[in-house]
Amino acid sequence: MQAISIVGAGYVGLSTAVCFASHGYRVIASTHDKEKAERINSKRAPFYEPRLDEMLRESVESKMLRAIDARDEAVLKTDVTFITVGTPATLQGKADLRYVVRACEEVGRALKKKKAYHIVVLKSTVPPGTTRDVVKPILERTADLSAGPDFGLCMNPEFLRQGSAIEDTLHPNRVVIGEYDERSGKKLKEMLDNFYEHRARTLRMNLESAEMVKYASNAFLATKISYANEIANICEQVSAVDVSHVMAGVGLDARINPEFLNAGAGFGGSCLPKDVKAMRAFAAVHGYETPLLGAVVAVNDAQAQHVAELVLEKLGTPSGKKVALLGLAFKPNTDDIREAPSLKIAKALLEAEVLVSAYDPVVKKISLAGFEALECANSIAACLSDAHCCVVVTEWEQFKTLTPDDFIELMAQPVVVDARRIYDPQQFLQRLEFSAVGLGDGSDS
Ligand code: UGA
Repeated sequence: MQAISIVGAGYVGLSTAVCFASHGYRVIASTHDKEKAERINSKRAPFYEPRLDEMLRESVESKMLRAIDARDEAVLKTDVTFITVGTPATLQGKADLRYVVRACEEVGRALKKKKAYHIVVLKSTVPPGTTRDVVKPILERTADLSAGPDFGLCMNPEFLRQGSAIEDTLHPNRVVIGEYDERSGKKLKEMLDNFYEHRARTLRMNLESAEMVKYASNAFLATKISYANEIANICEQVSAVDVSHVMAGVGLDARINPEFLNAGAGFGGSCLPKDVKAMRAFAAVHGYETPLLGAVVAVNDAQAQHVAELVLEKLGTPSGKKVALLGLAFKPNTDDIREAPSLKIAKALLEAEVLVSAYDPVVKKISLAGFEALECANSIAACLSDAHCCVVVTEWEQFKTLTPDDFIELMAQPVVVDARRIYDPQQFLQRLEFSAVGLGDGSDS
């Protein structure tokens, strides 16, 4: 069994590390974040992700996984290195490659000391051309070796979703291998076939196309969501139409499929917003304007504001009234609040002098500037207590089981805005004042 090193221990790196370790591969996770390395070695996951705790504990206890600060040892003691460092957005929306550059320099310097053939696999999301034009020259210069004959080079985009990172890593719906040369791609495919027990559909292609698959995938997912939100906003204008039913009907068409058609508060997280912007910035450098993706971003930017307006409409005079905001994480099963619609909605409400009390099962405080007035309640009951309106922003399972009675009992006035379409409108409309994204007022139904 080959030994693996992973450079970077974020969602992608750590999920990959524990999944390989659980399949009998020796894994070294290399991170310059010493505190994170210590946490990993003491079996404490650095972020919330279902199944991560148990997988991490088993991997460390079985000694299949350890985290270190050094890159040298990681490369020298393994056969394949996956680079999974982040590519955040620059102020202009481009992909910031500084962590990729640094990782490549360090991996290259380690490769220089190595005799055996080693494969370097870039997993970080990068604009087309990066592996060939940035990664390869850095590795070749620092290692004093040539990609191809001396070491392998591949680009293997990652499609895992936060909240189901372990499941997605173990059972991806497809594997894409971008290869610098035939030998690198063949060796990586053999290794991944072994890991996935030949169950994952694998596509091999050149480096640039593999890099583009990742951006094009996220751009399409974002487009589907903005499409669903735009249709939802039209549905709200027609009293008897419900976007949930509409999208259920639309999604049954196999050419469309039902995934990512849930209208709501817009897409957030560390990937879709960043990658759509990076793709647009990349295209702009090449003189192309991306009108479609521009509209996708515009619809998304407006959607959180639209939800805030649904709430403000319900409040009438907003100043001094309390709104219960259910859900802070950008999606369920994660503690990540990056680009979360909840923050945009809370901000709009705070600006209207509303008292906002938020409850999330895992996000317990917001330390960002501008959110000092946001109260984080320690239970759903405390959040709902004496509120004049409740808005559901993240579809956590805990919220789905709430009934009209829960809202009626606890709130000053039972008014619910369902921005994630988790409640049955008929059941709620009979008992309390209710509105939802993509729901007409029901008067003609
Ligand atoms: C996304 C992609 O789904 C992954 O395939 C990809 O690997 C990842 O980005 C990445 O580039 O690393 P992620 O950001 O974890 O994954 O989460 P998603 O499930 O895509 O959700 C993103 C946002 O879209 C969330 O705010 C979610 O609430 C929203 N969403 C999703 C909707 O509003 N409606 C939907 O129907 C689906």
